[in-house]
Amino acid sequence: MAHLPSEPPGTAALPGSDPDDPNAAPGQLSAGAIELRLLMEAIYLKYSYDFRDYTGASQKRRVQYALTQMNMPSISALQERILHEPAMFARLLQYLTIPVSEMFRDPAYFLGIRKLVVPHLHTYPSVTMWVAGCSTGEEVYSLAILLREEGLLERTRIYATDINPESLALARQGIFPLEAVRRYTANYQQSGGTRAFSDYYTAAYDAARFDPSLIADVIFADHSLATDSVFAQTQFISCRNVLIYFNRTLQDRALGLFHESLSHRGFLGLGSKESIDFSGYANRFDVLARSERLYRKAT
Ligand SMILES: C[S@@+](CC[C@H](N)C(=O)[O-])C[C@H]1O[C@@H](n2cnc3c(N)ncnc32)[C@H](O)[C@@H]1O
Repeated sequence: MAHLPSEPPGTAALPGSDPDDPNAAPGQLSAGAIELRLLMEAIYLKYSYDFRDYTGASQKRRVQYALTQMNMPSISALQERILHEPAMFARLLQYLTIPVSEMFRDPAYFLGIRKLVVPHLHTYPSVTMWVAGCSTGEEVYSLAILLREEGLLERTRIYATDINPESLALARQGIFPLEAVRRYTANYQQSGGTRAFSDYYTAAYDAARFDPSLIADVIFADHSLATDSVFAQTQFISCRNVLIYFNRTLQDRALGLFHESLSHRGFLGLGSKESIDFSGYANRFDVLARSERLYRKAT
């Protein structure tokens, strides 16, 4: 459902919906839902971060968690502090953005890229990719490794974007806990990896530093799918486990950006719980591999 021109953001729910949902219609919201909605509005007005069209469930879960972690008695008290203390907002942002990732997450997705997308990418003289919502970089390093093994990395530029500056800084470093990297090794093997995973990193104490040459042509940048516009023509966009937090209006906005950014018959990959099926863009993409969540821009 698209916003009507007179409809303020965050009001996509139908009358009679859950009163605890901050996206419910005016007059039908519980006090807690109003507090949550006012918090999102305050964040937007003060810091220009727009969480107003994230699903009510995700707003509620993240803010409840933040209240406990930040030792705040109520949402209103939190709002008061973040309005006057930018450092408090920087802390809250870490809870709102869910900086959780994994290398070669859902190996079948990466295997699908190898088998179904890579052969097409080989036909282009140069390739531009966009990893939207890249978090701390695990997805970017995974794609870079895959591209190197497929002989494509040297002619590929990757734009890796996120709204969380702390996550982007960690992504640029490419240092991940060794314990997690041991888990990623199994993912890598299942994803069709052709070498020893340890070839790509140097281990020291309890951390693994990934080969910086993997990201030599990666541009990490601040970009919001909620407020920014298209910035590059791309052949492949990977946006995984981001749309799941957006309501239908915001999902359609993001899919619109992807559609606009993709070149003719470009490729789109989503997370395992995400789909374009019920979006306003269902007819604008062909399904390349349904269970791997790989799509192709329709003609
Ligand atoms: C759960 S992580 C997913 C990380 C990675 N894509 C993966 O699948 O492993 C979600 C990421 O989306 C980012 N994000 C949330 N809202 C966003 C927005 N409006 N625009 C761009 N990125 C956003 C968050 O900062 C976070 O890093």
